[in-house]
Amino acid sequence: MNFSLNSNAITSTKADCLVVALPEKGDWPASTTEADSALGGLISTLQKAGDVTGKNAETTLIPLSDQPWNRLLVVGTGNDTDRNSAGFRKALTAVMGALKEGPSKSVLIAITDTKVTGDDSVSSELAKLSLIGRTLEDQLYLFSDFKSEKPTARKLNKVLVSVSDAGKTEKEAFNLGLATGRGMNLTRDLGNTPPNVCHPIWLAEQATKLAADHECIKTEILDEKQMKKLGMNSLLAVGQGSTQPPRLIVMEYRGGKAEAKPHVLVGKGITFDSGGISLKPGAGMDEMKYDMGGSAAVFGAMQVLAETQPKINVVAVIAAAENMPDGHATRPGDIVTTMSGQTVEILNTDAEGRLVLCDALTYVKKFDPTAVIDLATLTGACIVALGHEATGLLANNDQLANELLAAGDRASDKAWRLPLWDEYQSLLDSNFADLANIGGRSAGTITAACFLSRFTKEYNWAHLDIAGTAWHSGQAKGSSGRPVPLLVDYLMSHAGK
Ligand code: BES
Ligand code: MN
Ligand code: ZN
Repeated sequence: MNFSLNSNAITSTKADCLVVALPEKGDWPASTTEADSALGGLISTLQKAGDVTGKNAETTLIPLSDQPWNRLLVVGTGNDTDRNSAGFRKALTAVMGALKEGPSKSVLIAITDTKVTGDDSVSSELAKLSLIGRTLEDQLYLFSDFKSEKPTARKLNKVLVSVSDAGKTEKEAFNLGLATGRGMNLTRDLGNTPPNVCHPIWLAEQATKLAADHECIKTEILDEKQMKKLGMNSLLAVGQGSTQPPRLIVMEYRGGKAEAKPHVLVGKGITFDSGGISLKPGAGMDEMKYDMGGSAAVFGAMQVLAETQPKINVVAVIAAAENMPDGHATRPGDIVTTMSGQTVEILNTDAEGRLVLCDALTYVKKFDPTAVIDLATLTGACIVALGHEATGLLANNDQLANELLAAGDRASDKAWRLPLWDEYQSLLDSNFADLANIGGRSAGTITAACFLSRFTKEYNWAHLDIAGTAWHSGQAKGSSGRPVPLLVDYLMSHAGK
């Protein structure tokens, strides 16, 4: 697919299809007015007749003749309250939905002059271009690696985005958006890959591949022996019921000054979570292939860095293991000594995410991080609390938490903070070890974060629980690519010029 910005007048730009935006009422964007007069008032006529209403994300395709464009696609941008970044993204998603299976080979999208406002609005015209680039890539995603019949190739191969100015900064913003979309698509590919293929060693190979494709990425893979030597008994305990051995995957992108402390991303990489001896119920268990969603998002973000080369240092650490029941598996009641020296009573083998993360969180101290952000499909309780809209955020530092919340708002990839008060910590008391790996029925997302907080005292740390946001269930089952946009926005806001 060929994506580019186009600053020529729309009336002098040929394309199989022209896309313009129509609000429900009020002033039209300049491009819509321009197209309307070039078409002899066609859009006004259709609106008066009620054929197009301007309702947000409504799309109407109209064949044209003797024009620079063979078709016109009118997309509604609703009323003022629809025109925030989420609403705008919805309209753009509808546009791509209408175009991707359609007959047009080339399209000129002339909707960037729609004013986007609201609390969660993209903060600038440049941010809007990023959002557009991202949505273009993201909406054309297809995963058919495991279908014997490949889908027929799409006709659409050229997307022009009409802008008044296509200077260096505009192009950079648009390209960052495209890279973010591709990063999301890598995240989705990894997530959607079945668990008999995507196991810890396969995940490690994906890191090696990323490093081979991009000189700026260095990678190091730790096997069981090396992890044993470091005392990562908690991580190893999770993997010991599986025939697939665990791995600790380290990737480094150093685009910043040598002395600049790195931002560290830690991903939960449970390639399949059966629950272990505390076996999960059967229904929907296939979706536990997405339990490596945190690590998949880390991969996506690293690819964006590799492609866009910002001036920042980022280290990624992925704790990869498969959680299976077996004669070698850990039992409820087992006690392990973590890399930190703290002992943990494993009361439920299905609370395995925190068991792999705690050792990774201890390991990353060696990078002297400016901040550590872990990403994990950690608790079903997070879905109960926040559903599938917001990622759960817990942190030991208010500034870091606020920065991540703001990044999520700007990127239309929202997070919502939950408290991490000391009052919750006692729920993890164990009669036999320093702490238990579960905290009982209440506040499951918070107690999981409390567990992690015991291992993150020495640095600024935030935890993103993406249990509800990393993938879609039901008919549209598939990885979402979240929270790559949030991560990229956060990291870019810390990148020097
Ligand atoms: N990977 C799951 C969490 C999960 C469940 C994410 C469903 C998305 C959908 C995690 O390892 C887990 O099993 N957590 C337990 C913790 C409990 C045993 C304290 C849970 O949420 O039930
Ligand atoms: Mn589990
Ligand atoms: Zn899990």
